[in-house]
Amino acid sequence: MTKYIYVFDAYGTLFDVHSAIARFRHEIGERAEQMSDMWRIKQLEYTWTRTLMGEYRDFRALTVEALDYAAARFGGISVPLREKLLAAYERLDAYPDAAAALRKLKENGAGTAILSNGTPDMLASAVESAGLADLVDRVLSVDAVHRFKTAPETYALVDDAFGAPRDAISFQSSNRWDIAGARKFGFHTVWINRAGHPDEYADLSPHAVLGSLEGLPAL
Ligand code: 2OP
Repeated sequence: MTKYIYVFDAYGTLFDVHSAIARFRHEIGERAEQMSDMWRIKQLEYTWTRTLMGEYRDFRALTVEALDYAAARFGGISVPLREKLLAAYERLDAYPDAAAALRKLKENGAGTAILSNGTPDMLASAVESAGLADLVDRVLSVDAVHRFKTAPETYALVDDAFGAPRDAISFQSSNRWDIAGARKFGFHTVWINRAGHPDEYADLSPHAVLGSLEGLPAL
C-alpha cells in the first residue's frame, strides 16, 4: 500500500506570522497590522531576489532585515521592542487547526513533514514551542540547498527525504506562490486560502482549495 506523505509549508500555513506583532500591538499602536504585513512582504521579497541573484543569506537574517525595513517605514521601534519581536518570531502561535490536522493524518497512517524557508533552528523552535514535535515526522529546511522556494531544488528535498512518488505527496501551503511552485514540481497541491484571497497563477492551479487545515482531502 502506498504511504501518503502530507508536507506543510510552515509560515502562514502552520504558524501565524502575524502573531509576533500582535503580541505587542499595545506598544506599536495602530500601525501594527501594516507593519506586520510589510515585515512579511519584505521577508518574502528578499528570499526571491536573493535566490535569483545567487546570493544566499539564511531566513533568520532576512527576517531581521525585513523587520528593520518595516519598522523604518512605519516610524521606527525601540531596540528592546525589536528584540522582543525577533524573539516572538522564534515562538509563533500555531493556527488552532494545525495540531488536529496533523494528528488526524498520523492516525490515518500518513507521513507528515514541514518544508520551509526557515532555518533548521527557527523551525525546531517553532515546532517545539507550538507542541507539534510529536506530530511531524520530518522538518525539511531549504537551508540545505541555499535557495528559497520556489526553486525546484527546494521541493526536491521532499523527494530526497521520502523517496516517494510525487503523486503520493500532498503539499499544503497558504502561500499561493508556493502552491504554484509545488504544482510545477509535480506534487498534489492543496491551497489553504486562510485569507480568502483571489486566485492567481492560473496555469499552476491547486488540486484543492480549503479555508483551513480542517478536512484535508485523502489522496
Ligand atoms: C515557508 O515557511 C516562507 O512561508 C514560507 O517556507
